[in-house]
Amino acid sequence: MMCFLICGAVFVVAAYVYHEIVVVGQRCTSSVKLHGKTAIVTGSNTGIGKRTAVDLAKRGARVIMACRSRERGEAALEDVKRESGSSNVVFMPLDLASLKSVRNFAENFLKSEARLDLLINNAGLFCEGRTQDGFGMMFGVNHLGHFLLTALLLDRLKESGSSRVVNVSSTAHNVGRIDFDCLNKHKALGLGSSMLAQLQIYSDSKLCNVLFTHELNKRLKGTNVTCYSLHPGAISIDFDRNMSRLLVMVLSPIFWFFLKTPEQGAQTTLHCALQPGLEPLSGRYFSNCTARNLYAKARDDATAKKLWELSERMCGLQ
Ligand SMILES: NC(=O)c1ccc[n+]([C@@H]2O[C@H](COP(=O)([O-])OP(=O)(O)OC[C@H]3O[C@@H](n4cnc5c(N)ncnc54)[C@H](OP(=O)(O)O)[C@@H]3O)[C@@H](O)[C@H]2O)c1
Repeated sequence: MMCFLICGAVFVVAAYVYHEIVVVGQRCTSSVKLHGKTAIVTGSNTGIGKRTAVDLAKRGARVIMACRSRERGEAALEDVKRESGSSNVVFMPLDLASLKSVRNFAENFLKSEARLDLLINNAGLFCEGRTQDGFGMMFGVNHLGHFLLTALLLDRLKESGSSRVVNVSSTAHNVGRIDFDCLNKHKALGLGSSMLAQLQIYSDSKLCNVLFTHELNKRLKGTNVTCYSLHPGAISIDFDRNMSRLLVMVLSPIFWFFLKTPEQGAQTTLHCALQPGLEPLSGRYFSNCTARNLYAKARDDATAKKLWELSERMCGLQ
C-alpha cells in the first residue's frame, strides 16, 4: 500500500514537472508598457489572438481586433475590454479570405489611425475550400491575406518609429513545401482533400509564413521595422465552442496534460512583439520564447523571393 502511494506521488510530481517545463514552457518576461502605441491583432476573437489582445491592452496599447465575424468580434471586444480593464480597444472587420476585405480594412485603418507599432498576423485556419478570389483557403487566409495586409500597412509601420511585424506560423512548417507549379496552375498549395493532404497544405501555408518573414526582413533592411515568425506551441483551442459538455469534461485533463492554454500559447507572440533588444534577431523564427535554427528550405533566399513575387502578382500589387 505504502509502495503504491509513493509511486502515485512520484507519478503526480513527474507529470506536474513535465507539464510545467515541456508543455507550459517559457513566458514573455517583458514589462514594456505600450501607452500611445497601436497594435493590430488578426483573428483576435478567440484562442491565442484574443489572449494576445488582452495582454497588449493591459499594457496600455490601443488594440485593433481584426476579425472576420462582426458578431464574434464584437462579443470578444467586450471580453477583452473587461479582462484588460482598458476601453482603448476597437473591432474592425477583416476577412482574410477576401482580398477586397483586406483592402477595405487597410483603407479604414489608414484613414482612422495615425500610427501602427505592432502588426500581429495571428489568424489561421485548417480547412478545405476556396477564398472569395479563388485561392486555396489555407494558402489564401494563412499566407496571402496577411501578405497583402502587411504590404498595405508597411508605410504606416515605417512612419511609426521602431515597429514590429509578428507572423504566427507553426512547427508544422518543417514538413511544408512550396509547389510553385500547383500555385501557378491552381492558385493553391495542393489539391487533395484527404486529411493527410489537408495537413500537408496547412504545413505548406505555415512554411509560407516563415519564408514571408525571411524575405520581409531583407526588404526592411535600413528601416526601423523588424519582423519575426514563431511556433506558439500546441494549444488547446477553444474546444468547447464545438463540443458537448460531457466530452469537454472527459478531455479536459488530457488536454491539460499535453496542451498549453491559449494564454500560455500567446507567450512567444508577446515575446516577439515586446522583448526589448530583439531587433538584431529580425527575420528569425521563435519557439518557446527562443530563437531557433531553421532547416535550409525555410530560409532559402530564392524560394522566399519567388514566393514574394508570386504573392505580389496574386494580390495585384505588381
Ligand atoms: N492551436 C495550436 O495548437 C496551434 C499550433 C501551431 C500554430 N497555431 C497557429 O496559431 C494561430 C492562432 O491559432 P489558434 O490556436 O488561436 O486558433 P483559433 O482559436 O482557431 O483562432 C483562429 C482565429 O483566426 C480567425 N480566422 C480564421 N479565418 C479567418 C479569416 N478568413 N479572416 C480573419 N480571421 C480568420 C478565426 O476567426 P473565427 O473565430 O471567425 O473562425 C479565429 O479568430 C494560427 O495561425 C494557427 O495556425 C496554432
